[in-house]
Formats: sequence, structure tokens, C-alpha cells
Amino acid sequence: MLSREDNELLCRVGRGTPMGELLRQYWLPCLPSTELPGPDGPPKKVRLLGEDLVAFRDTQGRVGLVAENCPHRGASLFFGRNEDCGLRCVYHGWKFDVTGRCVDMPNEPAESLFKDKVRARAYPCRDVNGVVWTYMGPRTEAPPFPAFEINTLPPEQVYPPLVMMEECNWVQALEGDIDSSHIDYVHAKLRADSKQRGTFHRDKQPRLELLPTDYGACYSARRRWDVDGLFWHRITQFIMPFFSMIAASDPNVVSARAWVPLDDDHNLQIMMRGRLDRAVTDQEREQTRNPFAAWGGYLEPTSDPRTRHYTKANIHNDYLVDRRLAREELMIGIPFLVNLQDRAMTETMGPIYDRTQEHLGTTDAMVIYVRRRLIEAARALRDQGVAPANVDDASMCRVRPASVLLPEGDSWISATEKSRQSDAGVPIAWVPFAQ
Ligand code: FES
Ligand SMILES: [Fe+2]
Repeated sequence: MLSREDNELLCRVGRGTPMGELLRQYWLPCLPSTELPGPDGPPKKVRLLGEDLVAFRDTQGRVGLVAENCPHRGASLFFGRNEDCGLRCVYHGWKFDVTGRCVDMPNEPAESLFKDKVRARAYPCRDVNGVVWTYMGPRTEAPPFPAFEINTLPPEQVYPPLVMMEECNWVQALEGDIDSSHIDYVHAKLRADSKQRGTFHRDKQPRLELLPTDYGACYSARRRWDVDGLFWHRITQFIMPFFSMIAASDPNVVSARAWVPLDDDHNLQIMMRGRLDRAVTDQEREQTRNPFAAWGGYLEPTSDPRTRHYTKANIHNDYLVDRRLAREELMIGIPFLVNLQDRAMTETMGPIYDRTQEHLGTTDAMVIYVRRRLIEAARALRDQGVAPANVDDASMCRVRPASVLLPEGDSWISATEKSRQSDAGVPIAWVPFAQ
């Protein structure tokens, strides 16, 4: 349970709010590179941390992200002409490059120096392995770019990101990934031999053990395994401010999932995955294009960024719930496709869940810790001007989740010490997950 005041502090992301300022310390993934397919293409509206922005790819392929309202008199740069290394506002012709510099002001006298005094608000961008990242913070020199494995693998080994819009606050969506106990319920199938994808575990009472770290925390959810005497530890990482890496279930795939706040009521889930062993095939790339195809796919977007990556199955139609499926096959009548089942749980809490109303148990230990960590970090920044350690140390992202079977009494912390580090030179510690 949180007080109303702490809940507000935790969830609100606008400029000037404590959490909004904490998030602005970090490089943030914000959109798949494919949304800006080529140089000088049409600009795209972007919404991020409550700010309305416009993204464009200039003649040299660089990505620009500028405030939507032109600094002259506020017309929308969404209509801007993307030409010759800059975005030209169509109202009076002022033109801005990717750094926000005004490079042309054709309606003012040629001798005027006014152009040198005007800047559009612009955020630096990096386009890495299929995802555009941006830094919206106060520093003139952006902090080092996060060295997640998905960012440092050769591009051909990285899948296109899986992306899903959610109509709720980012924290309750993120909390779903650090809440192991739900996998035995909302993701479960009713029979082990069901053809539907789902979990089917004997022990549905995980014991959680947390390990706070300098970049966030990881935890093990321990369950009794089907072989007596063995225990299954699912070890999930939380990396400040909103990255999760759920327990490994593939010997060759590394991942990072981001829960990116568009504003207080919308978040974009960006799932980034890469292979350690080989290039991703064209067929595999094609398969990632519409991960929800089996359940209606995505709806056609408008120019509003909140309509992109928005699935046909959504809160307004109860996610197309199929009660027969729920009666005969699955815990919930929605298939296990990416995080659709999770979303049906987290969105229906309300746009911003009122955490004064909840009742937390032992299996919520990681949720409790992560909230406290985020709130403390936001307060430390506000009150002492201190940013979390992983803002300036990009190598702290070089971690992996793990999944291991251990005899009773063995410490998962020592058993997985190496496999939780990207650069320790050991294989991924993994156990198959849902069938
Ligand atoms: S409002 Fe953009 S140039 Fe005038
Ligand atoms: Fe889940």
C-alpha cells in the first residue's frame, strides 16, 4: 500500500515532477526505427513523458526529436517539410535541424541575426539496433549510452522490437514483470495437455528472495520442481528506471523490456531481443511484425501516437475475451500472446491505480521494493541533486536474468553470480518456460 502522496510521486512523469525529472536523467527508448523509414520522409508525432514532440529523419539519416510547437508562434511541426537537413515549419518557413538550431528564417530581413537566437526544443537521439533512443534531460552533454546487450550485439543478430501500447500508467505495467506469482494464474492453462500456450506448474506458491543492486535489483522466485529435492529459481532483473529482464527461457536469446511512459495514462511496452548465436532470419523478422495477428492484430493508427501499436483486442472490448477458451483451456479467455493477458490485468486497475486500496502479500515483495527504490531515487534527485549510479555508468546494464534448478538449501545468489553478468563468458542459465 502507498499513501496518496507517494502514489502521485511514483506515477506522474510530466516535466517538473520528481519522477518525471528522474526519468529525464536516462536515455529512453521511444520508437521503433521503422517508424522513420528513410531520409526526408514525413515527420511523426511522438508523445513522451507527457510532452508532444515530432520526430523526423533528416537527409543524412539522423533522427531529430523536437517539440511539436514551432518556437516562432507555435504552429505544429507535424506539417513541417522535411528537406535538406532540417524540418521547415510551413507557417512562415522557419527551419530547424536535428539539434534544434534555426538554420533558416526566410521571412525576416537577410541581415537579421534573430535566427541565431532562436532554438527549437530538441532532444538528442540514437538509432541503435532497430530502436530510437532519446535523452530529454538537463545536461548539455548526454550521459553515456546504456550498454545493454541488445544495444551492443551486431544489428543482424537483433530482432525488430515487439511493441504494444497500454492505456494505463507505466508503473502498474512494469510491476507485472516483477511479480512472479501471476505466471501460475493468468498465464496458466487448465490442463497440462492443452494445445494452448500456457504455464502448468505444480508449485504455485513461489518464495521470493531479493538482491538489491547498484542498478536496481534482482530477485528469485523459488518453486518446488517436479523432481523431488530440486527447486526452480526464476531470477528476474529490474534496471532503473523502467527496464525488466524476465527469467531466461532460451539458451541463445538476451532481452530487455522497457515500459516507456508516453504520459501519465499511457505506456509503450518495447520488448528488445537479440540472439547470441546467429543472425535473425528474414522469416523470423517477418514473424515479429504482427505478434498479435492470431487475436486481431493491430488497429490502423491515426497520427496520434497513442493509436500506434494499439491492438484490436483492448480494454474497450474486454480484449475479445472468449469464455469457451476460459472454460476449457486457459485461466483467462485471452491467448498468451506477448503481454496481452498481463495488459488485461494491469489496464483494468484503472489509468492510475489507487494504491491506497491494495493489500500486499509476501509474493509482492519485489513490487514493494522497486516502488520504494524509485520513490527514493526521485526524492534524492529532487532534494540532493543526486542521480542514480547507473545514469553515468553505462556498463551497469550488462546483466542477464537467469533460471536454474538447484538442490534445496543451495544459494541462487552464488550459483548464478556469473550467469547474471553479460561479460562473464558463461552460457545463459535457462529453463524452458511456457509450452
Ligand atoms: S509558427 Fe513556425 S514559422 Fe511561424
Ligand atoms: Fe506475465
